Amino acid sequence: MSNEAFDDRYELREFAPGTDEQGAPNAETALWMQAVGLGFHEADPDAEGAARMASHFIADQETFLGVYVRKPFAGSVDETWPAGTFTWFRKALSWGDGSAVDTQAISAVTVRPTERRRGILRRMMTHALEQGVAEGYAMASLTASEGTIYRRFGFGSAIRERAVRVRRARALPFLAPTAGTVSVVPNQWLADGPAREVFDRFHVRTPGSMVRNTGTWPVALGLLGQDGKPAKDVRAAVHRPDDSDEIDGYVTWRVKEDRGSDTALEIVDLVYATDQAYTALWEFLLSVDLNDVVKYSRSRLDDPIVAALGDNRAYDVDHEEDHVWLRVLDVAASLTSRPFAADGSVTLAVTDALGFASGTYRLDVLEARGTVTRLADDADVAGSDIQLDVADLGALLIGSVSPVTLAAAGLVRATDPAKVELLRAMLTPPRAPHGITYF
Ligand SMILES: CC(C)(COP(=O)(O)OP(=O)(O)OC[C@H]1O[C@@H](n2cnc3c(N)ncnc32)[C@H](O)[C@@H]1OP(=O)(O)O)[C@@H](O)C(=O)NCCC(=O)NCCS
Repeated sequence: MSNEAFDDRYELREFAPGTDEQGAPNAETALWMQAVGLGFHEADPDAEGAARMASHFIADQETFLGVYVRKPFAGSVDETWPAGTFTWFRKALSWGDGSAVDTQAISAVTVRPTERRRGILRRMMTHALEQGVAEGYAMASLTASEGTIYRRFGFGSAIRERAVRVRRARALPFLAPTAGTVSVVPNQWLADGPAREVFDRFHVRTPGSMVRNTGTWPVALGLLGQDGKPAKDVRAAVHRPDDSDEIDGYVTWRVKEDRGSDTALEIVDLVYATDQAYTALWEFLLSVDLNDVVKYSRSRLDDPIVAALGDNRAYDVDHEEDHVWLRVLDVAASLTSRPFAADGSVTLAVTDALGFASGTYRLDVLEARGTVTRLADDADVAGSDIQLDVADLGALLIGSVSPVTLAAAGLVRATDPAKVELLRAMLTPPRAPHGITYF
């Protein structure tokens, strides 16, 4: 659809979510939320749930986008609901060495089934990324419902996650003793007390961690279910190091009994400020009786539990997929925000169909910090060591995806493979990246 035809048919509106004096979402906000619910097949929230969700959007200072049909059919929801929804807000991505970068986090992307494939997503995305550039973001971020939607807009899959199961019968004892003490606590006590502090410590030391939305917390801590109703089946425990009263990790979980198949203890949230807390909490979960397997859907690629288990074959990967996607908007600001593990210089020729990051850039790293010089406005293949698309630059940034791997996939090109290996060494993260936050 041409731009003119699009503008004839639709109106794009950007607005901040709002509530009335009683805390209920105002009409524009409520209708936008209903449209999102339709897109994601979610049940409509009750009045209390809608007010709570709106308060979370306001707390996170979200910017809503709605695409409205100008001439809706009488009686259709298009008379009042947006046919396309989109939101963005500020979200810090940790590099794992104490530094972080603010990303333009994108969420709630839906297009009404009756209006799909007419360019609504493309228009919302282009508008949002232009605003992101104007607001000074180095990069945008999102978590996706499908793997094929976002690369065309310059997003690369930067960190993956695994859904795993560990069979109790063969897991314990661990090969090395764990340390510290685990105690079961009331969920509300965890929410009122240490949970956020533990997360902050996890975030600072973990490459790829992203700050959580306000609305994530009550679900992660087992106060509310995904449906917004009180969760009654989620338990919580915390870990303290030996001879210390300081909590350095916590876990929340529920047990699902299934007649005829395994009873599974499912981890809802596992946050660790130390490696000791991670292994000790796993050992605790594996020691809980009346269940067969412990399931964790947010495991990282290099999970130390595999090495810790008495029998490594107790660990099975059920599924693996993309988690956080990054979209570089400003190459220099993105690269200079992160630490580097090796010194050296590489010249990158970056293509970008949307134009934001196109150019040729020299990255010089000295004593772990980078400087970036823009050498040309377009991707100068002859004058560069490495050529890649902006989506693949985003994929490499956290250090979880190797440029050597992307070269093997034909996505990163170089005449001298040593330059690709140098880039890999430079981008090595301080420890295994781990993302535990959906948005
Ligand atoms: C995914 C979704 C938002 C796409 O919206 P849309 O308005 O139909 O997309 P557009 O018409 O703007 O299409 C833009 C481009 O993406 C492509 N595309 C869109 N959805 C796609 C999908 N699910 N898989 C692969 N390609 C897709 C289109 O073919 C088009 O390609 P082109 O520009 O190269 O020709 C919409 O189908 C939807 O709401 N799905 C359900 C909710 C959902 O999955 N949201 C994503 C949350 S992360």
